[in-house]
Amino acid sequence: MSYNTILTVQSNNAFIITINRESKLNALNHETLQEIKTAVLSVQDNKSVRGIIITGAGLKAFAAGADISEFATYTPQQGTQLSADGHSVMNAIEHSAIPVIAAVNGYSLGGGCELAMACHIRIAAENAKFGQPEVNLGLPPGYAGTQRLIQLIGKGKAMELLLTTDFINAAQALDLGMISQIVTLEQLLPTCLEMVDKFSTKSPSAIASVIRCVNDHFKNTNPGFETEILEFGKSFQTEEFIEGTLAFSEKRKPNY
Ligand code: COA
Repeated sequence: MSYNTILTVQSNNAFIITINRESKLNALNHETLQEIKTAVLSVQDNKSVRGIIITGAGLKAFAAGADISEFATYTPQQGTQLSADGHSVMNAIEHSAIPVIAAVNGYSLGGGCELAMACHIRIAAENAKFGQPEVNLGLPPGYAGTQRLIQLIGKGKAMELLLTTDFINAAQALDLGMISQIVTLEQLLPTCLEMVDKFSTKSPSAIASVIRCVNDHFKNTNPGFETEILEFGKSFQTEEFIEGTLAFSEKRKPNY
C-alpha cells in the first residue's frame, strides 16, 4: 500500500510506521491519522509481523501535535468529528492484537503525546519531550489525552500537566511511568527492533490475550472519553479558540 504522509517498511518481524512530515515537526493532519490507522489495521492478519513501531521522521519530533493549521477554521461540528475520528485512530492502535511501540524521537506534544500514549509501550530517546499544550490554543486535548494521561501517571500529575501545559523530559516521563525506557537517539530504533525480536519468541495469541486483558482493566469505567469529544467540539465556537490558533499562526503568545 502506498501513503502520502507516512512511510512503512517491514524489517524482519517489525512493521515500522514513520510519520513523514518533518518540516511540520510531523504534525498530525487528518490524512496522517487515517494513514496510521490504515497501516496498523493492514498488518493485523499478517503472521510475519510480530510488532509495530511508530516513530517520526527526522531527529526533532515524534509528532508536535494535531495540525493546527488544518483545524483553525473548523466549526464545532467539525471539531467534534475531528475528535471522534482521532479517538477512533487511537482506539485502533490500543486494540491492535500486535504490540505497538512508540519510538519517541523528540517532541511528543498534544496529538503526538496522545498517539504515543495509545501505543502499548513507549521507548524514548534522550531528547524526547512530552506535553499537552492544547489549553494554550483554547481547547482541551481531543485525542483522549485527558483519559490516557490519567491512566498512565495518575490524576494529580496528569491534572498538573494538562492545566499548566508544562513539558516533561524523558527522565521525568520515566519517573512518572509514562515511558518504559530511555535510550540514545541512535539506539532508539535498534532497541525497539530488539523488543520486537523478543515478542517474536512468544505466543502471538497469548500476547493478543494480554493486550485485551490489560485494555479491559479500563473498559467502561468512565464516560470521560465521550466527554472529551464533546468538550473539544464545543471549544471551536469560543473567542479564545480563535485567539489561540491565530496566535500560533502568528508565532506569538495568545492574549487571554
Ligand atoms: N501544527 C501545525 N504546524 C506545526 C505544529 C502543529 N501542531 N507544530 C509545529 N508546526 C510547524 C510550525 O508551524 C513550523 O512551520 P513553518 O516552518 O511553516 O512556520 C514548523 O512546524 C516548525 O515548527 P517551529 O514552531 O518553527 O519549531 P520550534 O522548534 O521553534 O518549536 C515547538 C517547536 C514544538 C515548541 C512548536 O512548534 C510548537 O509549539 N508546536 C505546537 C505544539 C502544540 O500546540 N501542539 C498541540 C496541537 S493541538
